[in-house]
Amino acid sequence: MILYYSATGNTKFIATELAKKLDDQCTDLLGRIRKSDFSELHSDKPYIVCAPVYMSEMPRFISEYIKNTSFTGNRAVYFIADNAGYAGITSWQAKKLFKKKNMEFMGCAEPVMPNNYYISHYKPSTDEEIKERLFKAFDKIDEIANSIQNCEKLKTRHVLLIEKLITFPVNSYTYKKISTKDFKASDKCIGCGKCEEVCPLNNITLKEDKPAWGANCSHCMGCIGNCPTGAIEYGDVTREKGKYNFEEYRHFLNEIR
Ligand SMILES: Cc1cc2nc3c(=O)[nH]c(=O)nc-3n(C[C@H](O)[C@H](O)[C@H](O)COP(=O)(O)O)c2cc1C
Repeated sequence: MILYYSATGNTKFIATELAKKLDDQCTDLLGRIRKSDFSELHSDKPYIVCAPVYMSEMPRFISEYIKNTSFTGNRAVYFIADNAGYAGITSWQAKKLFKKKNMEFMGCAEPVMPNNYYISHYKPSTDEEIKERLFKAFDKIDEIANSIQNCEKLKTRHVLLIEKLITFPVNSYTYKKISTKDFKASDKCIGCGKCEEVCPLNNITLKEDKPAWGANCSHCMGCIGNCPTGAIEYGDVTREKGKYNFEEYRHFLNEIR
């Protein structure tokens, strides 16, 4: 069983490609995360959990979900840490989490995908860089699928002690600094509620048909990236840097495959 969470489509792409290659079933965790639905999951095949990397670690709502859910049936679990260049301590966290659940950790792959975090200080990737990453992702997904098909462990990068020592204090500070005050919906907003539906933390509510953001945000980029009219802006940053959604590049993938 392939489980995934995806804010802007990259992880969904990886998960659905793996499902095709492995003839496995793919489950989107968004609904369960939003409802805090920790009901038991059962799979006869190994579990494959796919998630983006946030701030060098696993998104906290994903680790909470894993901690609280019981996984029955097959005891093997693979983790796919979809990232934009540095997956940080994610593989170490995943190993620890699943070992606590008495599951056999089969390793963590770190496919590099286009960066979707345009509102951070990182430069967004150029169109060419995005296409190059997506092109390379096909080979990486093939490699991951082959290993899983052969019941092999995935080659997992060793996480250094220094990475853990840096990530914990830095992130406890960064998470506190995540702000929603700069999110706003422009006149293009049609009040469809898509932003509300895709927020994993139920942090958006429509007020008079316009989204309003609460304080509990992970900056996942789901609201910005999935707005059908491109109405959601973050200060002036998104106007200057643009917005990312994998679906805008699907035609390119269809051309090359
Ligand atoms: C809040 C946030 C933090 C991120 N932090 C990292 C990071 O530390 N390292 C990295 O390589 N990519 C980071 N990214 C980029 C995403 O992991 C990457 O673009 C991923 O493919 C997005 O997946 P999705 O489209 O399925 O949501 C971050 C993205 C967001 C939204």
